Amino acid sequence: MPKRRYLTTPIYYVNAVPHCGHALTTVVADVEKRYWQLRGEDVWLLTGTDENGLKILEAAQTAGEAPQAFVDRISQTFVRAFDGLDVGYDDFIRTTEERHAKASQHLFQLLRDAGHIYLDKYEGWYDVSAETFVKESEVVDGKSPDGNEVRRVSEENWFFRLSAFQDRLLAHYEANPDFLMPEGRASEVVSFVKQGLRDVCISRSNPGWGIPVPGDPERVIYVWFDALVNYLAATGWPDDAGWESLWPADVHWMAKEIFTRFHATLWPAMLMGAGLPLPKTVIAHGWFVFGDSKMSKSLGNVVAPQDLVDAYVAAGCTREVAVDVARYALARFLPYENDTNFSMEAVARTYNADLANDLGNALNRSLSMAHKFCDGVVPEGQVEDEIVASVMAAKRSFEAAMAAHRVHKAVEAPIEIARVLNKYIDTRAPWTLAKAGSPELGSVVRTMIFAVRCAAALIRPVCPAAATAMEAQLRLPALSRWEEIGDVATVPAGHALGEAVPVFPRVEIEAQPAQAASEKPRPAKQASAPKAGPVEQLEFADFAKVALRVARIIEAESIQGSEKLVRLEVTVGEEQRQIVAGIAKAYNPEDLIGRQVVIVANLKPARLMGTESQGMLLAADDEDGTPILLQPDREAPDGTSVH
Ligand code: MSP
Repeated sequence: MPKRRYLTTPIYYVNAVPHCGHALTTVVADVEKRYWQLRGEDVWLLTGTDENGLKILEAAQTAGEAPQAFVDRISQTFVRAFDGLDVGYDDFIRTTEERHAKASQHLFQLLRDAGHIYLDKYEGWYDVSAETFVKESEVVDGKSPDGNEVRRVSEENWFFRLSAFQDRLLAHYEANPDFLMPEGRASEVVSFVKQGLRDVCISRSNPGWGIPVPGDPERVIYVWFDALVNYLAATGWPDDAGWESLWPADVHWMAKEIFTRFHATLWPAMLMGAGLPLPKTVIAHGWFVFGDSKMSKSLGNVVAPQDLVDAYVAAGCTREVAVDVARYALARFLPYENDTNFSMEAVARTYNADLANDLGNALNRSLSMAHKFCDGVVPEGQVEDEIVASVMAAKRSFEAAMAAHRVHKAVEAPIEIARVLNKYIDTRAPWTLAKAGSPELGSVVRTMIFAVRCAAALIRPVCPAAATAMEAQLRLPALSRWEEIGDVATVPAGHALGEAVPVFPRVEIEAQPAQAASEKPRPAKQASAPKAGPVEQLEFADFAKVALRVARIIEAESIQGSEKLVRLEVTVGEEQRQIVAGIAKAYNPEDLIGRQVVIVANLKPARLMGTESQGMLLAADDEDGTPILLQPDREAPDGTSVH
């Protein structure tokens, strides 16, 4: 059987329910999977749960449940979380499965037969929370370096001769620069190994939970030894003849805390000892943090993936698109090198900027204008070279980022196409070309549809449902091959397009504290009750004198020297004007671009801080007098009157 591309995530402890930290690694691996599939490869993605060890046994006891029933229940919450994020995993391994126990015992036996495992007395400290043995010198005030409680252990145990692999490991790192990634973390591993590796205790006295050591039922295999074997067990090793079609793994994904001591040293040494090939790449990202702390259940500062999805359903996305919003946010916020703050508020900002403003607007504008100026049909005309070149550059940057596992960079490529397209629309101004009856109109509109189609195709690995929704509006089939992206023949002249329906409605951003996974999300700000007051009545004819129009912000910048004022360029149908608005305290200029607003279009121009304002934005005030911009409930034709 030909070799498949084999990607893995860590197997997650079932002592707590999943949060966005877990979802991050699994979604990132899934984005890689979908990308390679689009490139025509046969890809296999493994995820799963880690269910042995004292930590899990004690969590079950605390919950008052039998351990097996407890792990069955929590493992399902991971299955549901990953299904709920449309993760296309091919296998979900659980370490309480027979296939896993068998592979772990087999590897143990193999290493013991080869002389890499010996029996000795272990006298020292154990950190149950991290399931690690801790050196005497590392214990401070009864705590491990991670700040966890430690327990005294004095047991006769099995040891793995890790110290004997030091030179072979260093030689392997040196000869295979892609083995450990990213580079910064690889150098940490090299220094760690150069300081000298100690043999590792790989058993614990049997607490009645775990995988028995072969031939020694008094002891169970140390949870980290068995956990690492999951990657091999899932291939069918040692029994299933097909295991070599998967092994060695191409990529083991994880976060930094389980990189140096486990995946970058112990695991390759175990494989070397057993004469098995090593994975091609072991890559560790940083952490999602909230404030100064790692997002973790024990700190109670987690965002649950389902809450993230629900927040975008509440904000008006379809459920499938809301799932994609969560996937996009996780991938885009991948803390590749440094830790990253991850919060509902940060996600909302990125969502508004990238998906609602850039991508969503590019789609809406292109489709609406194709309907307005070309009867909803892709017109005859040359797709402009400049835009084809930008699409190809975005595609290459996607490829380069993926080759380096920089998934956060790759997912920006389709947004970049949308940004280029929005600028192109502003400069080529199809409304002006239409008015002048210019022959260039066909070329410009076909170019717009081409670019949108490419952006949709390129966002598919991270947002598969949104890509499908966009393609459905274009009434064009999904591009199933990577080579087709950027081919102008995929937008034939004469093709009838569908109607524009907003895929990514804008959301209001509210600063939120971190919340427990079980708490419900609070996606949108609750407006306070309006204060009633006496209002003067006026004749309809007077009201009708006010020309209210839908406009779109195409440029926004703060006005120097003013805390309140922003200078905006807006399009009002075919006309463009400058408006100065007092909204700087409530809105970042970059968040405003692409947004539709309602303006008073027939006010006499006024000068504010030396800048002329040719109209006024409509806004309500909240209880503190902070402006809340008015916006059409759905995308309205630019320039239409409001009454
Ligand atoms: N069971 C072990 C892994 C065994 S792999 C052979 C374990 N489990 S865990 O439940 O603690 O999951 C750790 C992994 O979850 C991290 O390595 C990372 O992939 C992901 N993350 C958990 N919290 C995270 C953050 N706050 N930030 C980033 N990644 C996070 O360790």
